[in-house]
Amino acid sequence: MPAFTLVTFGCQMNQHDSDRIGEVLRGIGYEEVAEPVHADLIVLNTCSIREKAEQKLRSEVGRLGLLKQRKPGLVIGVAGCMAQQEGERLARRMPQIDFMLGPDNILELPRILAEVELGAPPPIRTVFDLNAPTFLSALAEPGRTGATAFVTVMKGCDERCTYCVVPNTRGPERYRAASDIIDEIRRLVVAGVREVTLLGQTVNSYRDPAGSLALAPGAGETHFEHTRRAAALQDESEFPALLRDICERVPDLARLRYTSPHPRHLTWSLILAHRDLSALARHVHMPVQSGSDRVLKRMLRRYSIAEYEERATALRSAVPGLTLSTDVIVGFPGETRADFEATLGLAERVRFSGFFGFTYSERPNTPALKLPDDVPELEKRARLEEIFALTDRHRREHLQSLVGQNERVLGERRGKNGDFMGRSEQNEIVHFAFEGDAIAQMLPVTITEAYDNSLRGVVQAGFTGLPRASMIGKAPSRTVRRALPVVSGA
Ligand code: SAH
Ligand code: SF4
Ligand code: F3S
Repeated sequence: MPAFTLVTFGCQMNQHDSDRIGEVLRGIGYEEVAEPVHADLIVLNTCSIREKAEQKLRSEVGRLGLLKQRKPGLVIGVAGCMAQQEGERLARRMPQIDFMLGPDNILELPRILAEVELGAPPPIRTVFDLNAPTFLSALAEPGRTGATAFVTVMKGCDERCTYCVVPNTRGPERYRAASDIIDEIRRLVVAGVREVTLLGQTVNSYRDPAGSLALAPGAGETHFEHTRRAAALQDESEFPALLRDICERVPDLARLRYTSPHPRHLTWSLILAHRDLSALARHVHMPVQSGSDRVLKRMLRRYSIAEYEERATALRSAVPGLTLSTDVIVGFPGETRADFEATLGLAERVRFSGFFGFTYSERPNTPALKLPDDVPELEKRARLEEIFALTDRHRREHLQSLVGQNERVLGERRGKNGDFMGRSEQNEIVHFAFEGDAIAQMLPVTITEAYDNSLRGVVQAGFTGLPRASMIGKAPSRTVRRALPVVSGA
């Protein structure tokens, strides 16, 4: 049986794509092996978001090239965002590569492998499926799924954040029919999945192409001080309606997450969905990128810091205890010390429980190339260290504040020493011991200790769990979380 290895770089979308590539390969008789030396086919699923990505690919291909000298039949394929954006150029520069596969061309893999076998010049398949978009579903096989799964609701991106390659590597926005999304979630839940994360580059810009969704409560309303009604109307999407539909039609789904929302679509109606839906996790990853309005304008982010903060506040008032995490770029062209201090100030006010910081890097064919990359590399690194010092402290204080609290933890996998690892509703990693199988169980856990990036807890006495097969249909199926009055500013 031929064997393959998959190496995945980049975001959750790439992870999702890698899982689908694995399924396609298994479908044509390949088996997966962990070590490249045992593989007949190696697929590198690449990311192009920052400069280091290309260097990583080069060194990986170089290393595998040496392996290929010893094993001439070895096939090396490059998939993902680098393949999409730079396929031709990379194939010319790296003769070790046998084929290039764009994110929308995964189903063509068997045909491409057949061409490679016939000795064709390296096939490059990087065509966006603009007219008839496909959305690959997970093979939901009972007993073979994990506790959690990703489900794509949209792909591509129509924003034009000036630093970002994604609109080029993933193409324009295309949406998946709500009925397909719900069918996939239903199948996953029947197969044993408890938590689903909806995926999209701007996941909350979602609209149902089949037009099946009813208007969500609060649609088109704005009770914010800083968001104009015209902007609120323009930013409204059907994402809150999709969330409500999923919770209503798949009541056995224990937990629902989504990533990444764009702050401008974090509308009043989405905040109401968080208030109302008990399955929606009490955590939102809401990338802010900068705390300075001047920089946000140059990034073309289309919101102000006042708007970002009032949405964060409204979310937290609607769902007490909700945590926020974010992405920040430091050293964007023209970022002054004062701009950077505005980002520090924002972090101090919002207190993110998770923080992903990056130094700006120039990317091919992005509008920001017109702006001089004028913050010295050393200064970028120093700013990143400075903001990490602050946000690491916030994170530690947040985790410490949870000691003694009771959390609902979904068991995801076994950790070291036979312990289990799971995540709380607020997205903290929790380690715990459990007699029996905690995977795919929703456990009541009392937090006993906080580490730098995770927690330890004990499962509450008397909870023995359920055998996995009998859990289906027994998940809590309430739709309404709590009847809180909404928010300041309402
Ligand atoms: N679609 C998501 C982000 C995808 S990219 C969103 O809009 O939220 C993930 C993160 O990489 C971004 O949030 C940003 O912080 C960072 N990033 C993107 N382009 C970058 C660049 N040119 N230099 C440095 N960081 C970048
Ligand atoms: Fe990139 Fe902006 Fe689109 Fe996110 S919203 S993928 S940062 S262009
Ligand atoms: Fe990277 Fe492509 Fe994701 S550039 S971050 S793998 S969409």
